[in-house]
Amino acid sequence: MSETSPKLRAELEGIPTYKPGKPAAAGGPAAYKLSSNENPYPPLPGVMETVTASAASFNRYPDMACTALTAELAERFAVPVSHVATGTGSVGVAQQLLQATSGPGDEVIYAWRSFEAYPIITQISGATSVQVPLTEGDVHDLDAMADAITDRTRLVFVCNPNNPTGTAVRRAELERFLDRVPGDVLVVLDEAYREFVRDTDVPDGVEIYRERPNVCVLRTFSKAYGLAGLRVGFAIAHEPVAAALRKTAVPFGVSQIAQDAAIASLRAEDELIGRVGSLVCERNRVMDALRGQGWTVPDTQANFVWLRLGESTVPFAQACEQAGAVVRPFAGEGVRVTVGETEANDIFLKVAEGFRKDL
Ligand SMILES: Cc1ncc(COP(=O)(O)O)c(C=O)c1O
Repeated sequence: MSETSPKLRAELEGIPTYKPGKPAAAGGPAAYKLSSNENPYPPLPGVMETVTASAASFNRYPDMACTALTAELAERFAVPVSHVATGTGSVGVAQQLLQATSGPGDEVIYAWRSFEAYPIITQISGATSVQVPLTEGDVHDLDAMADAITDRTRLVFVCNPNNPTGTAVRRAELERFLDRVPGDVLVVLDEAYREFVRDTDVPDGVEIYRERPNVCVLRTFSKAYGLAGLRVGFAIAHEPVAAALRKTAVPFGVSQIAQDAAIASLRAEDELIGRVGSLVCERNRVMDALRGQGWTVPDTQANFVWLRLGESTVPFAQACEQAGAVVRPFAGEGVRVTVGETEANDIFLKVAEGFRKDL
């Protein structure tokens, strides 16, 4: 066999690997998975029926243009059909945005710590990541992000609410930031957790997009709508960004099952939003309990909470796992804990209480 191997792009060297949330081990002590910000509710029966019916024709390719889903989304958000672009999860769409805007020599700005896919997909594109630290309060430092813009900047991610801290930026500060961004730099408002936001000062990105041609909004069916395993997300963006997303899409990337399930979910929105309401109540309960135990926890507008634990992060995550719930540690920084089933949240709270006493 030849000693040489195929030449790969140098940009791929040293790419951090995406760490998916650890599953709850079968037969192990950890019965609950609070590590991936998933929706703990099982699929709605009506959505299940749609998926089952759709599965009967998976010998056929899906509708490549996601025509029906796109039309439904356009109506739902009152935007032109040509401004909606679907993809394999919103992370798939984010990657397409990078392919469409950024390459070697270009810069991509985002807060840090934020969604762990940003450095990965930026590096794959060949562009350079410019990470702007969160403030002391774990919020985007939008002034510093605006200061970081250069004539090489092509794209800025604003993760609102931010993963993993759950913090959100408010309307006035976001507008002030956007006023400072040159019109030829794309600002991506990643709103994967939008449906969980209850702070009325946190703007709906779709309203902001309407006024600003360089703003694009990312949304997903993975979280509030509970379709994480089916991989469907979308962007709302002006031309020519939306057109570029259609060019960079993997052909037939969104399965027909995913398209049909997404449409069925939009039509079952009342029921799904009711579930989101219950999760928000549960989130408030968890936050109150943590604060009652003496923790300083940043305000979360998402379906997870962030505990800054520093060196205790890994032992804390291990203790949770032992007690029956898998959480997501970021070694040396903190743990992100998804709001899940009441019993799972109680397991986490009990471990937190024990740790607090030992601090
Ligand atoms: C901020 C943020 N954006 C995007 C995504 C990607 O979600 P999906 O690709 O499932 O739509 C996630 C998932 O965890 C996320 O936290």
